[in-house]
Amino acid sequence: MESALSNLLHEDRRFNPPPELAASANVTEAAYAQAEQDRLRFWEEQARRLSWSQPWHTTLIWKPPFAQWFVGGKLNVAYNCVDRHVEAGYGDHIAIHWEGEPGDTRSLSYAQLQQEVSKAAHALTSLGVHPGDRVMIYLPMIPEAAISMLACARIGAVHSVVFGGFSAQSLRSRANDAGAAVLITADGGFRRGSAHALKAIADEAVEGTGIETILVVRRTGQDVFWRAGRDIWWHDLVDAQSAEHAWQAFDAEHPLFILYTSGTTAEPKGILHTSGGYLTQVSYTHHAVFDHKADTDVYWCAADVGWITGHSYIVYGPLSNRVTQVMYEGAPDTPHQGRFWELIDKYRVSILYTAPTVIRTFMRWGEQLPAQYELSSLRVLGSVGEPINPEAWMWYREHVGRGRCPVVDTWWQTETGAIMISPLPGVSSTKPGSAQRALPGISADVVDETGNSVSYGEGGYLALTEPWPAMLRGIWGDAQRYQDTYWSRYAEQGYYFAGDGAKKDEDGDLWLLGRVDDVMNVSGHRISTTEVESALASHPAVAEAAVVGAHDCLTGQGIVGFVILRGEHDCGAAQVLLTQLRRHVTDQIGAIAKPRQLMVVPELPKTRSGKIMRRLLRDVADRRELGDVTALAEGGVMEMIRASVSVDSVAPSIPEPR
Ligand code: PRX
Repeated sequence: MESALSNLLHEDRRFNPPPELAASANVTEAAYAQAEQDRLRFWEEQARRLSWSQPWHTTLIWKPPFAQWFVGGKLNVAYNCVDRHVEAGYGDHIAIHWEGEPGDTRSLSYAQLQQEVSKAAHALTSLGVHPGDRVMIYLPMIPEAAISMLACARIGAVHSVVFGGFSAQSLRSRANDAGAAVLITADGGFRRGSAHALKAIADEAVEGTGIETILVVRRTGQDVFWRAGRDIWWHDLVDAQSAEHAWQAFDAEHPLFILYTSGTTAEPKGILHTSGGYLTQVSYTHHAVFDHKADTDVYWCAADVGWITGHSYIVYGPLSNRVTQVMYEGAPDTPHQGRFWELIDKYRVSILYTAPTVIRTFMRWGEQLPAQYELSSLRVLGSVGEPINPEAWMWYREHVGRGRCPVVDTWWQTETGAIMISPLPGVSSTKPGSAQRALPGISADVVDETGNSVSYGEGGYLALTEPWPAMLRGIWGDAQRYQDTYWSRYAEQGYYFAGDGAKKDEDGDLWLLGRVDDVMNVSGHRISTTEVESALASHPAVAEAAVVGAHDCLTGQGIVGFVILRGEHDCGAAQVLLTQLRRHVTDQIGAIAKPRQLMVVPELPKTRSGKIMRRLLRDVADRRELGDVTALAEGGVMEMIRASVSVDSVAPSIPEPR
């Protein structure tokens, strides 16, 4: 972290907000002072941006680490995202311009969205789904993904969306943990010019789970296996339902969704979010951070609904603000590398939200591509998911924003539910690579090991020092893990430990430096080293495995695995075996966890207590001088590793936007 800290000290470029944007910005500097003066009152005001069926009586009940926001209040999340806009006379306003990868399109107005969500809500109820029941969603980027989520919200069911790139095994363990009885999937989805199967993976996943019904959207038309009595076509069930649905209000703390994310163990955590506080913060931050204007903006968040970014900034935040948005099914290079820019021109997109890894991919493809398009509709650019290096930030600003658009680097997590640290486009003088400042109403600090605030110019750990409305309410079924993971490190102060290294610069602005725990960030996807290690070790040829995230200039980090083979496996055949191992990890977790590099080693570096010294393996993976080796149980092990590694590299694939 030290070298990163000192590099950042040299960044002195600043970009003021464009005067026209500042003059009509949704949020001004005054919001910080207002929130500072009375934080709870500030959030009450933001909650009033929503429509409540019953007002809350208590804004916050905070019994660390358990928070309840807007207690006593009742609302319906789907009504807030859809129906109220129709009632206000915006039924014809386009909610979603959807673009399929092959070029087919669908535009849904708010009135149409209301009908689709209503029909899907009836369909779920007809399948026996009740408030509080969990529904798994495993879909490509098609409108039915948003419709399914909103239908769950409408009837008070709890959705758990699993990203379409996850394997059958990953889907199964999540469905089991959530205890779901219904799964919504599709025959497949289009990705890089071909139809990839989802139903086949779902079929395998549901074996041995409590899933009794699979509702299947026809997207690609590919052949699917069909089990009568279990499988139902979406078009058969949903299309037959009434397009009118009487919604019911739920408690502000009624569970809205569970989203699984990687932690430091092999078991993903089911992050639980509830309704009123979550919707308040995603709605406010979408309004504030993107300066979104419902009547004129066209917004595009190029994430997948399978991740928190898709939940908060495709579905709930934007739709609560009556967005007109682009939703794109496919890859950025299909059918050509200018697809994003073409879509921006086609729909006159004015706000773009994407990930640094995607920006770096565009950089590699060259600035001549965006240069061929107009891009004059753009006015705000956002970044999320991983640290954005100043070169990528500058490229985004110059070659996409043409020097006119503020770039907002937004820091947050699955757990925080909504953006926490970010510049405001009409207020902040931005710095390439810095997320800068906690948003109004949010309280963050950089602290040392003992929880003391570090001075300006120093680095440490990011801590969130006050509860916030969209905070996770726990880990599904594991209160102890919730407490241990996030709240035990700074128990005395009552701070939330984010797991990220950070720096406060000389102006007090924040720079996020990446994970400090055993979690990797590959193309903005969170993957645990332990999860990949267990996948490798579950292969019969592997005796032991260690995994580290190595530096990768495209994907941020790349997965590098070190494996000790079982005695009977001959190192001569290692190349074939390593290919099999890579495939095995893909089967176990999903293609996003496929190691970039695997090395066969005779030993792993361990401390005397048997803990693997990943720091040294990272030095090998990054081809650096070895750091301090004095803690090693066996002094010579690193020489053995360096002398014997059999390296099997694959070129990193094009990162998936998240
Ligand atoms: O390490 C931080 C990184 O992504 C982690 C959260 O990952 P996830 O829960 O998958 O959510 C990603 C989308 C919100 C964080 O702990 N991260 C996210 N945004 C940034 C970031 N790192 C640096 N700068 C960011 N803007």
